[in-house]
Amino acid sequence: MRLVDTHVHLNFDAFDADRDEVAQAWRKAGVAHLVHSCVYPGEFEKIRAIAQRYPEISMAVGLHPLDMDKWESDTAEQISRLAASEPKVVAIGEIGLDFFKAKNKPMQKQAFLAQLEVAKVLNLPVIIHCREAAEEMAQILTEFWQVHGPVAGVMHCWTGNPKDTQIFLDLGFFISFSGIVTFKSALEVQASAQMVPSDRILIETDCPFLSPVPKRKEKRNQPAFVYHVAEYVANLRGVSLPELAIQTTQNAQRLFQLPLEPIEV
Ligand code: NI
Repeated sequence: MRLVDTHVHLNFDAFDADRDEVAQAWRKAGVAHLVHSCVYPGEFEKIRAIAQRYPEISMAVGLHPLDMDKWESDTAEQISRLAASEPKVVAIGEIGLDFFKAKNKPMQKQAFLAQLEVAKVLNLPVIIHCREAAEEMAQILTEFWQVHGPVAGVMHCWTGNPKDTQIFLDLGFFISFSGIVTFKSALEVQASAQMVPSDRILIETDCPFLSPVPKRKEKRNQPAFVYHVAEYVANLRGVSLPELAIQTTQNAQRLFQLPLEPIEV
């Protein structure tokens, strides 16, 4: 069985002391590939060094909506240059809108749009963070599609209800579920995980955050725990774990053009 953890932050300090052991654990758990997210371009060199040490890591580059203090006039250009400079870059992200307590909505929208354009020009998918902003996000994407044509992408760490899920499915997006789906109270997220078609679903940890059940006591999440997300989602959807692994791994491979051996079904 091969799994892909489509969203990790292994560059964070939480992994500095034992990254090799963490890698051993994900290999043992069947995680064959990982997509490393990026919250601001200043992280790029550390992420690149990590991706060089572990060949199964692909990378993204982008500016997160909660890091708008780092947005400058040349940031989009910088992201474009970094993405084009490194063959391991498979996506622009994470980018998006976070309107929870936000006082900078116009700036977030501007930065998001600029990075969407980078993705379009480079023909890369986007990794989208969307919190309390589904309506505005859908509107921006719809308008962008009308002018430039669609961009492929994933709604990462998805916490939306089925209605919002359908909106992003209709826009062509993949939907990625993190440990949040395993939380007892996450009934709407679980309903969303049941309705996503099998060719659009992805799984992730978003580590070091959000350890899934039954690892809630471990404050630090890690890629090996994507196994528990997979197991939970398989149960929810009434498919076997190996079947869900094949579906989600194929989907990740297709969206991010990952250099994985073809899957024998
Ligand atoms: Ni993230």
